[in-house]
Amino acid sequence: MGLVDGKIAIVTGAASGMGREGARVFAREGAAHVYVVDVNVDGGNETVEMARQLGAGATFVALDVTDEDAVAATIARVVREQGRLDCAWNNAGINDISKAFHEFTKAEWDRMIAVNLSSVYWCMKHEIAQMLQQGGGAICNTSSGAGLVGAPGLPHYTAAKHGVLGLVKVAAAELNNSGIRVNAVCPGMVDTPMIRGWFASNPDLANAVLETMPGKRLLDPIEIAEAAVWLCSDGARGVSGLSMTVDAGGLNR
Ligand code: NAI
Repeated sequence: MGLVDGKIAIVTGAASGMGREGARVFAREGAAHVYVVDVNVDGGNETVEMARQLGAGATFVALDVTDEDAVAATIARVVREQGRLDCAWNNAGINDISKAFHEFTKAEWDRMIAVNLSSVYWCMKHEIAQMLQQGGGAICNTSSGAGLVGAPGLPHYTAAKHGVLGLVKVAAAELNNSGIRVNAVCPGMVDTPMIRGWFASNPDLANAVLETMPGKRLLDPIEIAEAAVWLCSDGARGVSGLSMTVDAGGLNR
């Protein structure tokens, strides 16, 4: 028995990093079909191959999650092809170069909020509408340690990730009699292309933060994926509204 046997799942930001591992863990844990969503076509197709090798059906959908109409069309496509949507991991996101609080431009602010916060609402909106029709489902959103405490140098990222947890709390409260569960993972620093890019552009800050991580190591993306897939599984049927830190204890020192 897998954790998500026979489920239909969608993972955004699945061309890379944690989302790719999420698609693989869904496949490994018995999902019938995984929709791999990303703007990165080559990476998305590679993830599809990985999921298929693990025995799941898999489809890549090229989608910018900031585009609400395209998000709606993608959920409609999943339902047209599979009849339902059981699990959604809304994980796509971006980082930015760290700067002083007062130095961000309107364009930088707007882009961050569009990708890391508004897109999560667009995805949840259309996923929840479908899950209400079918009478249940499970959603996990990717927040961050920066959803729980401030990340110096990244006010827009911090605000967006705090906002994701706000969406989780509202949805979990509204939906607690609907069979729909909504949770979040709050990763610590994870070894993905995103964090490697941030390390390259902020080596001093990054190394200082790494010093504070348990074992002075980055987390492996599969460690986050295992938690997210569990939150989407029936094993977590009693869990909704949770912001689950997956940081090897770094925030609890
Ligand atoms: P990553 O860069 O490896 O993967 C992110 C994926 O999202 C990429 O494939 C990218 O193409 C996709 N994406 C970006 N904008 C998109 C858009 N508008 N539409 C569709 N896809 C889009 O990064 P990683 O680290 O796997 O990040 C996943 C999530 O985890 C993000 O939400 C990030 O903010 C969050 N996170 C990352 C941490 C880390 O240390 N790596 C720590 C805490 C949170």
